[in-house]
Amino acid sequence: MFKTLSILLKGRIASFAMFFVFFQVSAQEIITVETAENALVFEVNESKELNTVYFGEKLKQADEYRQISSQYKQGTDYTGIYASAYTPAGSKNLLEPAIEVTHADGNMSLSLEYVSSEAQEISPGVVQTEILLRDNVYPLEVRLFFKSYSKENVVETWSVIENRESGDVRLHKFASANLYVRGNNDFWLTHYSGDWAMEMKPETSKLSHGIKVHDSKLGTRANLFQPSVFTVSLGGPASEEHGSVLMGGLEWSGNFRNEFEVDPLNNLRIISGINNYASEYTLKKGEAFTTPKFWFTLSDKGKGDASRNIHRWARNHKVLDGKGSRLTLLNNWEATYFDFDEKKLKKLIGDTRKLGVDLFLLDDGWFGNTYPRNNDDAGLGDWDINRKKLPNGIGTLVETARKNQVKFGIWIEPEMVNPDSELYHKHPEWVIKQPEREEHYFRNQLVLDLSNPEVQDFVYGVVDKLFTENPDLAYIKWDCNAVIYNAYSDYLGANQSELYIRYVQGLYDVLERIRKKYPEVPMMLCSGGGGRVDYAALEYFTEFWPSDNTDPLERVYMQWEYSVFYPSLTMAAHVTDWGDQSIKFKTDVAMMGKLGFDVVIDELEDSELEFCRQAIANYNELEDVIWQGDLYRLRSPWENNTASLMYVGEHQDEAVVFNYRVNYRYEQGSHIPVKLKGLRPDARYTVEEINIYPGEQAVFESRNYTGDYLMKVGINPNVKKDNPSVVLRLKTVPK
Ligand code: GLA
Repeated sequence: MFKTLSILLKGRIASFAMFFVFFQVSAQEIITVETAENALVFEVNESKELNTVYFGEKLKQADEYRQISSQYKQGTDYTGIYASAYTPAGSKNLLEPAIEVTHADGNMSLSLEYVSSEAQEISPGVVQTEILLRDNVYPLEVRLFFKSYSKENVVETWSVIENRESGDVRLHKFASANLYVRGNNDFWLTHYSGDWAMEMKPETSKLSHGIKVHDSKLGTRANLFQPSVFTVSLGGPASEEHGSVLMGGLEWSGNFRNEFEVDPLNNLRIISGINNYASEYTLKKGEAFTTPKFWFTLSDKGKGDASRNIHRWARNHKVLDGKGSRLTLLNNWEATYFDFDEKKLKKLIGDTRKLGVDLFLLDDGWFGNTYPRNNDDAGLGDWDINRKKLPNGIGTLVETARKNQVKFGIWIEPEMVNPDSELYHKHPEWVIKQPEREEHYFRNQLVLDLSNPEVQDFVYGVVDKLFTENPDLAYIKWDCNAVIYNAYSDYLGANQSELYIRYVQGLYDVLERIRKKYPEVPMMLCSGGGGRVDYAALEYFTEFWPSDNTDPLERVYMQWEYSVFYPSLTMAAHVTDWGDQSIKFKTDVAMMGKLGFDVVIDELEDSELEFCRQAIANYNELEDVIWQGDLYRLRSPWENNTASLMYVGEHQDEAVVFNYRVNYRYEQGSHIPVKLKGLRPDARYTVEEINIYPGEQAVFESRNYTGDYLMKVGINPNVKKDNPSVVLRLKTVPK
């Protein structure tokens, strides 16, 4: 049986033919989930339990997977299920479970037996494997799903829990992933801490026995303190080029929980899913619960290779319009904050054209009349145009944009409400708050109860009305600035423990409706900065706002870390007033992501404006390389005085190298050459400096080099105090 599956898997990757394989259980059954380079292999033991026997680089001889278990003599697995593919609680389990339930009769034991599995190619190069497990006493079923993207070496996994009992089942824990990584107590975890304006601070440490948990209990803006993405490297911290690394993250925009347990056998168990904190879920008779997806990739060639896997997968399969284009923009947030009127905005729209970007983005402050939005303490929820600031509505602004040949976008924060708003007074029952307790605010606001279908309609209506009234609206910035305090839903009545989950499901329902009607309009996901980004949200959003901190020095580090998991075309990076570096340094840093500006054009000197226009023109020429190319992180800002990274275009004919000075101490700069990556060794490239400030000389002498030289010796970008950022463009020399 195993041989048949293996042959079919290869066939599926080579040619797209729908097929279906069905397995009936027999002892020592083997099931493989493969990508081009890796395999996740399960074995059914004699007690019909499904365990992971292998997770690593694919073997050439598939029948040798059977020989793996016998090579491990790490001690006694008392239960035979330390490596369980989905660890059930309450029977013989001794370690952290993936699933924990109370059956209809009040019994809390669960023991899952393998029943069958099937695999199907659902699109070219994408195979979905479904494994059915069933409790041997209760009619409760779990289906494990593995969707493998062969070329990109990425797998998504999730589960569906189905209640076929005679009454309600209570779910206490319901993980998406239960991975088992064999090793020898030599696992290094990199995860992230953060806060407002301090997102994505990496921490790497060796995991020790016991469980390391990182999670979110914030409800909305769930990544404010930490995101769910992580890297585990085996046998020591991995570098960009070397080491075995596993990267993963949960596709869920709410509370998550990742558990890393080094078990008594020195192997690593990773369990990830929706945080079960305050989230017991009732599964009614006949109902099924689908957990969110957990994505992961594995590489034995270091972090760089793993990131490129993720970026390709994200662009090819995940991010909305991942193969498409993006709009450069001018945002008015830092230029005006809440203080604007029609005249000021029309001037800014004119400036958008002058600058040479594609779109003007009107930020917060355009709505509210009884409670005008002149500050962040009033108006949220009242999405009617502020008549004092904009007596002629949004239409006239869209029209001005059209006349200036730029597009127009707008900011909304539709999930939120200020107590000082008409909405709050009209619909207090729509607001998440405890009926008997004092309200507690985050940025003076509260969260609307998206578990309630009426609220879902309202939020959908906010967006739909904007588009219906302004069909030329070309961009939305969707913000979410508060966490959930005093979690209580008037709508959910006795099912309060489902609020955190149903909130996120409600949000996705709204986004689904929006995307059905407006499939392509670009939308930025913002959450007071990087408080909310994950690959479920990015199915609806084209980009995200990594942080309100736009100090370019800070951004070098933050964007570096975000780039581990997210491709550049999703990462909005704006030139703003933050930081006292030159406009060149700021622009050079923003150009490594999706470029935007948030500056007062009038306050720029002529040479500064000229520089920006030139840089935008360069960016437009390079957008395919930056957005769709392969990223190589060459020199890390964390360990060096300068940081360098490059994007290489699809056919290796073009590349761009960004270099930044990150240590301002005396004489610090690029003292040694930077070795480039991803080029064709036998091609010749012209290396030329771009983004040269008007009136200044290039600091890098343009010359031709072979790819071989550039990758073995490298080039010195000549970054130093007077040239803190240098951008180099590579093009092949025609033969
Ligand atoms: C958040 C966002 C900012 C801006 C403000 C508006 O803080 O991160 O970019 O849109 O809201 O209130």
